[in-house]
Amino acid sequence: EMSEEERAFQERIDRGEKIEPTDWMPEGYRKTLIRQIGQHAHSEIVGQLPEGNWITRAPTLERKVILLAKVQDEAGHGLYLYCAAETLGVSRDELIELLHAGKMKYSSIFNYPTLTWADIGAVGWLVDGAAIMNQVPLQRTSFGPYSRAMVRICKEESFHQRQGFDIMMKMAGGTPEQHRMAQDALNRFWYPSLMMFGPSDKESVHSAQSMSWKIKINTNDELRQKFVDQTVPQAEYLGLTVPDDQLKWNQEKNGYDFSEPDWSEFFEVLKGNGPCNKERLDARIKAWEDGAWVRDGLMAHADKSTVARTA
Ligand code: 3HC
Repeated sequence: EMSEEERAFQERIDRGEKIEPTDWMPEGYRKTLIRQIGQHAHSEIVGQLPEGNWITRAPTLERKVILLAKVQDEAGHGLYLYCAAETLGVSRDELIELLHAGKMKYSSIFNYPTLTWADIGAVGWLVDGAAIMNQVPLQRTSFGPYSRAMVRICKEESFHQRQGFDIMMKMAGGTPEQHRMAQDALNRFWYPSLMMFGPSDKESVHSAQSMSWKIKINTNDELRQKFVDQTVPQAEYLGLTVPDDQLKWNQEKNGYDFSEPDWSEFFEVLKGNGPCNKERLDARIKAWEDGAWVRDGLMAHADKSTVARTA
């Protein structure tokens, strides 16, 4: 049974109003947002690792500069999102501590390795492509700071996707060896990209409540379908084969029928047993520890200048 406040809140949501940090909100709404925005921020920060792996080995100076700009953008996306989460009364340090303790998640996709340069193309094309599919609707999410962060992020994400597709065009249209690398990258990133949209709707524990609060605008399966429908023609344009022999156009649903990812693999990766989970978390923990002296120095300086001002 809803309280008076909860009913009034739900009416605001149903009217499409934006909820701001100082507005009354149910505790569950706050908790869901901290969970989703915090994990979204962690995804941006951890997502820099697979890409960063190729900055020193990019094939040309131009590709190096583009990749540097993209990785820097992801750091910025993480900061916008941690700021949005902080408006809900949680600190960035707490969120990062929970990540390092394995108590918060980041997107499963980043637990897969980037083995060749073509993988950097596939990451931009497929991973950022899926991220855009998921983030464009989130621009209309009911929580003000999150929706505003999404508007900014979506603009930058489009560049990420374009530069990835440009790499794929170069590789797929290049020598037979380059074409083979592009096909190998698609083979390895296809199903993990489908997993980015979350479990199937029947397995999704949060969707119903998140959709009623307009935190989630579309279901996981809806966005996954949209992603497949948009991406298959792009693979055909590249002359690449999607690694799914069940894939075929279904006229009456006006979309592709396709094989679901291996959900047991998905839940294994979520449990920490993916190819790179340990490597990613170790890298984040090391970066955090190596950076402690900088944070301590900045805090000491800030305290000193505060004392000077108040003395
Ligand atoms: N990786 C890791 N965990 C996942 C996941 C994935 N791909 N998909 C679902 N999960 C987790 C959920 O977090 C939840 O676990 P929790 O209760 O511990 O948080 C559980 O699996 C059940 O899934 P639900 O569908 O019930 O959960 P949600 O309603 O939260 O839906 C979601 C999952 C669609 C990822 C949603 O949280 C969401 O839209 N998040 C914001 C977008 C986001 O995080 N995108 C990450 C993409 S990477 C990125 O943006 C970086 C870009 O630069 C490439």
